Amino acid sequence: MEINKIGILTSGGDAPGMNAAIRAVVRSAVDKNIKVIGIRRGYEGLLSGDILELSARSVSDIIHRGGTFLLTARCKDMMQQDGIERAHKVCKVLAIDALIVVGGDGSFKGAQKLSKLGTNVIGIPATIDLDLDCTDYTIGFDTAVNTGMSSINKIRDTSTSHERCSLVEVMGRHAGHIALWCSLTAGAEEVLIPEMNRISTEEIVQEIFSNRALGKSHNLIIVAEGVGNTIKMAQDIENMTGIETRATILGHLQRGGSPTALDRMHASIMGYDAVESLLNGKKNRVIVYRDGKYLDIDINEALSYKKTLDKRMYKIIKVLGT
Ligand code: F6P
Repeated sequence: MEINKIGILTSGGDAPGMNAAIRAVVRSAVDKNIKVIGIRRGYEGLLSGDILELSARSVSDIIHRGGTFLLTARCKDMMQQDGIERAHKVCKVLAIDALIVVGGDGSFKGAQKLSKLGTNVIGIPATIDLDLDCTDYTIGFDTAVNTGMSSINKIRDTSTSHERCSLVEVMGRHAGHIALWCSLTAGAEEVLIPEMNRISTEEIVQEIFSNRALGKSHNLIIVAEGVGNTIKMAQDIENMTGIETRATILGHLQRGGSPTALDRMHASIMGYDAVESLLNGKKNRVIVYRDGKYLDIDINEALSYKKTLDKRMYKIIKVLGT
């Protein structure tokens, strides 16, 4: 099938590097005389026809910017069959030969449903959470971890000076990848993530006491957002230990900022490969990075994987944080 016109949208939570991916798609398409329609606010903009034509110049000066200049949204209508059917019709009216979706799991599920109706879709994985099971990497993760790590470094300084216990909550409602990476790279002694059995506050208190007995003068504990109630946990720890304890919630700080080199690299290659995949006649694919290689795989296959968490990382955090 000839590719003359494509649409691109970013959907779900934004991720640093999304702009670099849009730039790569637009410039790779323009290079092959393919027209590109930008769709604003993800699937919401698709449903309301909020579109703009993109040229090579429309994507100047965005490679280094966080967020997404196309804007993004979590579109509830795409969870209903009626919304999917309307979105499919808009793609037909726009006469786009393929829709490129830059986002995470939820965004790809919407794309998968669109593909069943006949819209040709290509997914580019972008979420700070790294929770897409089909790929070793998702655009935005490295920037989020670096932001988390450098924030924790600063908290560590003041925690050391005051000989306090510090709890830092990082993003990840359902996934603990950011928490694990931040813990290992910032030297935390404990990490709580939604994928593992909850450690009781009593057990954490025991750890704090034993680490203090080993000569530690302050404590650093990372909590993934999905574990919940970090502030209450900090209060309980203070009450149970008598050690001044503070909680810091990093929140959306980790979703912003200029993308790291790694994120720009993956975004640029995945964006280029998305267009290449279409030019090679492929349909309904997701661009993935696996075992050091970029591949395009069928979207149904992409959504059928279940990623296992690297439990070894947890063990290493505990050994190195003692
Ligand atoms: O995009 C992923 C993510 O940042 C999660 O880590 C977090 O739980 C969630 O999005 C927050 O979503 P919102 O910005 O809608 O509050």
